[in-house]
Amino acid sequence: MKCKRCKAKAVVSLPSHNTAFCKDCYPLFFTRQVETAIRRQKMFTHEERILVALSGGKDSLALMLELSLQGYDVTGLHIDLAIPRSSEKARAKVEAFCELHGLKLQVLEVANEGLPIPAIKKHINRPVCSVCGKIKRHYFNRIAREGGYDALATGHNLDDEAARLFANTLRWDAGYLSDQGPTLPAEEGFVRKVKPLYRLSEFETANYAFLKGIEIHSDPCPYSGGASFTNHKHLLGELEYKSPGSKFSFYEGFLKKGRPAFAMLNKEEGDEVSPCGECGSPTSLDLCGVCRIRTALKEKMAEAE
Ligand code: AMP
Ligand code: FES
Ligand code: ZN
Repeated sequence: MKCKRCKAKAVVSLPSHNTAFCKDCYPLFFTRQVETAIRRQKMFTHEERILVALSGGKDSLALMLELSLQGYDVTGLHIDLAIPRSSEKARAKVEAFCELHGLKLQVLEVANEGLPIPAIKKHINRPVCSVCGKIKRHYFNRIAREGGYDALATGHNLDDEAARLFANTLRWDAGYLSDQGPTLPAEEGFVRKVKPLYRLSEFETANYAFLKGIEIHSDPCPYSGGASFTNHKHLLGELEYKSPGSKFSFYEGFLKKGRPAFAMLNKEEGDEVSPCGECGSPTSLDLCGVCRIRTALKEKMAEAE
């Protein structure tokens, strides 16, 4: 197969776009998709400061490299979860990547915040992944807000977004269906959140990371037993195989038709929010969810001693 652009030997074939690219032209395809995402979804401008959440995986590192090459003012944020071996490896990949490309990086250690994930797994009687996700989102927002960033970007790709949409649709969860999307505007206490890779599949992002020689952290989390929405991703993958492009049209159709319809249906006002008494994050209670987890963990650990 030949490259659509320059007719050299293609190394990546993209059935969903009915095309193929060589190793030099493929990154241009990737760049165009990210540019289109940023423009169509009004994500951010070159005058704004973007905080990019870096896990060390292919998606977030590919996103960081691409945004920096496009000349955006980006700073990385890595949350060190204190999970033995796994967190050290992930952090080392993020640090080496930022050092190599001369990119700014901020690291937050949850252990210094009284929230080491292994202790949460041991003492808090809730699924560790959902608590961990809540803590990560809390610090993404808090650090972006305190640092005066205009937007917080994550590496979620088309597979992540389509699988989440599929799960929300199976439950007809009107609340989530009205505000799932690649750009969530800033609201009181919350910074704007953006997902510039939403037009690119996991395969497409992995190819970019590989062709750009990015060293990634690819081990799955030892606590989670695999990525989120694995079954939904699997089913959508089968559909995509039989009918290339269906994953993208499912998600794009939702953005054009589904989301506005659900937003109309779901107009009721959310809870009133005010700053958490402990950390200042927006919450509808006196203390935010993360400060309540920290207090509960402290109590449980004291009891266990
Ligand atoms: P995941 O939910 O693990 O698929 O991650 C989705 C996105 O969240 C990644 O692409 C990153 O942008 C961000 N992320 C996940 N874990 C971390 C972390 N430990 N530190 C910073 N960002 C993270
Ligand atoms: Fe949070 Fe695994 S990454 S529990
Ligand atoms: Zn708080």
